[in-house]
Amino acid sequence: MPDVRIDESASPAAHRAGMVAALAAGRVDNRFHYVGERSATMWRDLASAHSPAQAEDGLVAHDVAARTAMALLPDGPVHVIGVACGDGVKERRLLGALVSAGRTEVHATAVDVSVPLVSAAAEAMAAVPGVTDVDALAVDIVARRDLSPLLGPRRPGTRLVTLFGMMSTLGPVALAPTLSLLQPGDVVMVSANLLPRRPGAREEVMAQYDTAPTREWLAAVLDDIGLAGAGDVTMRWREEAGSLAIIGEVTPTEDMTAHVEDTVVVMPAGRPIRLLESFRHDPAGLEHLLREAGLDDIATHASPDGEEGVAAATAR
Ligand SMILES: C[S@@+](CC[C@H](N)C(=O)[O-])C[C@H]1O[C@@H](n2cnc3c(N)ncnc32)[C@H](O)[C@@H]1O
Repeated sequence: MPDVRIDESASPAAHRAGMVAALAAGRVDNRFHYVGERSATMWRDLASAHSPAQAEDGLVAHDVAARTAMALLPDGPVHVIGVACGDGVKERRLLGALVSAGRTEVHATAVDVSVPLVSAAAEAMAAVPGVTDVDALAVDIVARRDLSPLLGPRRPGTRLVTLFGMMSTLGPVALAPTLSLLQPGDVVMVSANLLPRRPGAREEVMAQYDTAPTREWLAAVLDDIGLAGAGDVTMRWREEAGSLAIIGEVTPTEDMTAHVEDTVVVMPAGRPIRLLESFRHDPAGLEHLLREAGLDDIATHASPDGEEGVAAATAR
């Protein structure tokens, strides 16, 4: 079992404090849908059954982008760092591609706020034949925006840093911690959920989210803190200030109290509690963000169904 280090930002105490602060602001932050064992398991089931990125079309985009990224890498050792890698399904595939392409020294680090997920990712990555070594770091990338010191001494060779499924989850906020790991010549891959350019696309995408398993996964966190009766999760599109997102929320019809261990937070009747904020991008918008972040050689590949975009780029 690979070594898993837990940064203070991913400790139970940090999660409790973060949950209380988020609830007081009327939301459940994204990370809380992954940090508990039950939520993490529900998400893994949901992602493997329904995620467009793990469907045939999404894998095509990831595989083509992986080939582009590998072409950007110089010869020699590679260190794959999966930022917010979840259970590492996509990094595992990437590691397999690197080994198949003849790389003989391939190191890997799994990074995620969820201890159950980062542990599963490290195990999955270590099981890829030919991978040299694997370690894992549990950290909140919003709290620790400079991840480089947390990773320890730089390994020889080039870093290939991945940020998959996070532009949809955290938006551009996820970029800075990811880029903190790069030196000139390192390579990064970033994926984003896209809104296909066809009539009815919003309805199609909404239908993927507005399902019983997704609502149950989102509501599991409420159940953990005594808000099970807060109401049904409703979903809507929100378009504002150049961003497009699906918002999921529940609105209690009477005052309720959330219990985060010993701390009680009053959730007033009529005020929505936001459980989900999932951003959609377009390829040009994604490339713009990466260019603004100082990356070069940016190439974006969209899945045939237009729902998953994966970019590869180099740091300068
Ligand atoms: C949508 S999933 C994507 C997982 C994986 N990269 C994939 O594409 O399948 C979001 C992941 O981000 C992680 N996450 C959410 N907020 C985070 C934070 N603040 N710091 C680090 N990881 C976070 C979650 O634990 C989860 O594994």
